[in-house]
Amino acid sequence: MYVENASAPARKPVTVPSLHVMKAEGRKIVMLTAYDASFAAQLDHAGVDIALVGDSLGMVVQGQRSTLPVTLDHMVYHTSMVARGLSATLLVTDMPFMADRNLDYVLDAGARLVGEAGAAMVKIEGAAPHILESIHALTERAIPVCAHLGLTPQSVHKFGGYRVQGREHDAAERVLSEALAVQQAGADILVLEGVPTALGERVTQALGIPVIGIGAGPHCDGQVLVIYDMLGITPGKRPKFSKDFLAGRGSVQEAIAAYAADVRSGAFPAAEHGYN
Ligand code: KIV
Repeated sequence: MYVENASAPARKPVTVPSLHVMKAEGRKIVMLTAYDASFAAQLDHAGVDIALVGDSLGMVVQGQRSTLPVTLDHMVYHTSMVARGLSATLLVTDMPFMADRNLDYVLDAGARLVGEAGAAMVKIEGAAPHILESIHALTERAIPVCAHLGLTPQSVHKFGGYRVQGREHDAAERVLSEALAVQQAGADILVLEGVPTALGERVTQALGIPVIGIGAGPHCDGQVLVIYDMLGITPGKRPKFSKDFLAGRGSVQEAIAAYAADVRSGAFPAAEHGYN
């Protein structure tokens, strides 16, 4: 049974400005996905900085083949549950596929995810002109935005699969210029997924906002993983960029605490988790 996290030690709530301070001070940011109140409470108790309600829930919770079938109603439902499990951890949630169909829709989606469901920030994939306009419009209305570049899973059909991005010179330059563009549009943080380690380092150094990597090497300002991947319970082959933190440990709480400690010390990700 889910019990409210009343015994959790008091911790200063993580805020959007505090993430910027963490980058400035060189303190690594720990981010992990959660899809329900019980896992959210585990993250909060372990001192994870950011809980992400990823649309990866389509794959790891719903058993879909991609994130594309996830709807705004699904995101509102899961975000509300996660919000109820958190006290100090910052809550970021995904804009689902095609939430960017027009500006009114994206603003309505932001209002529901933040106002109704309780997120503090929304994540939106890509850097096309209409996405930059959406980032600007959301942040102008005091809805913080997490941009998402590199291997953006909602573009799976365009990419022809879940492929590492930015390997060739021109593609790397494109990722870098997109990162500068989302920052310019007002994004507060950036998730950078599935790019070579050297590009992860370049983007992190070029940006003033925190860059959270997943399969982007150890030089990013923080790391994010899908929680079921880092607990080793995702069906199929574990992604190269992930690690099973539950192996050899006695509980989910210990596994999350080990992940947080390894991100903060720089022990995770190791070279073997990165791409060339
Ligand atoms: O949906 C998700 O869980 C994500 C992370 C993989 C970054 O976008």
